[in-house]
Amino acid sequence: VDFSEPSSTPDKAALAPWRSPLAHALHRNRSLPNSRYAQLATVRPDGFPANRTLVVRGFLPGGNQLRFVTDGRSEKVGQGDRAELCWYFPKTREQFRIRGRLRLVDAQCADEGLLKARRVMWHELSDGARLSFLWPEPGRERAGAEAFVIDPPDNRVPARDFCLLLMEPIYVDHLELRGEPQNRCIYRLENGEWEMSSVNP
Ligand SMILES: Cc1cc2nc3c(=O)[nH]c(=O)nc-3n(C[C@H](O)[C@H](O)[C@H](O)COP(=O)(O)O)c2cc1C
Repeated sequence: VDFSEPSSTPDKAALAPWRSPLAHALHRNRSLPNSRYAQLATVRPDGFPANRTLVVRGFLPGGNQLRFVTDGRSEKVGQGDRAELCWYFPKTREQFRIRGRLRLVDAQCADEGLLKARRVMWHELSDGARLSFLWPEPGRERAGAEAFVIDPPDNRVPARDFCLLLMEPIYVDHLELRGEPQNRCIYRLENGEWEMSSVNP
C-alpha cells in the first residue's frame, strides 16, 4: 500500500490541505497494521445506513481520491455514491471523518486511465486477497467447501468481479483527542477550493 504523496510538482499543488495531517497520522501509526482499516458508511435504498470495515489502499496517484477494492457482487455496490469514511488512529488518538462521492471502477469502465489503475491495484494485492474475488457470490447461502478450492488467478488479469472503488472527498472532519483542550478541524471543498476552519471539539 503506497500512502506516499505524488512526487511531481503539479500533483503536489493539487493536494488537499487535510492530506498533510493524514499523512502524518499514517506515518506515526505505521507500526499498527490496523491503522489501515477504516469504516465506510453508505446509504441503503431503505434509508438505513450501511457500514463496514475496508482496507484503505492509499490514494489514486495525482489527486485526493482514496482507493479501496471490493467485489462487484457485494451489497455496497448499488447503495449509491454518497459515503463517509471513519478512520481512527489509535496511537495518536485521532479520527478523520471523510465524506465524499464513490466511483466504482469495474471491468466495464470506459476510462482507459482508470482501467489501468484497476489493473495496477489487482497486481498489488496479495495472493489471498486476489483469490477472494473468485469465491462464490458474497451474501448468498454458504457454498460447499469445494467451491472455495480455486487455482490462484493471474496477477495481471483482474477477476471479472474485482472492482477498484474510489472516493473523492468533499468534507473532512479531523479530531485530535490529544491536547488540552482537544483540536478539531473542518476542511470543506467550496467551488473547487479547500477551506479550513478550526471548530470546538
Ligand atoms: C479487517 C477487515 C478488512 C476488510 N477489508 C475489506 C476490503 O478491503 N474490501 C471489501 O470489500 N471488504 C472488506 N472487508 C469485508 C467488509 O467489511 C464487508 O463484510 C464486505 O465488504 C461486505 O459488505 P457489504 O455487504 O456492505 O457490501 C473487510 C473486513 C474486515 C473485518
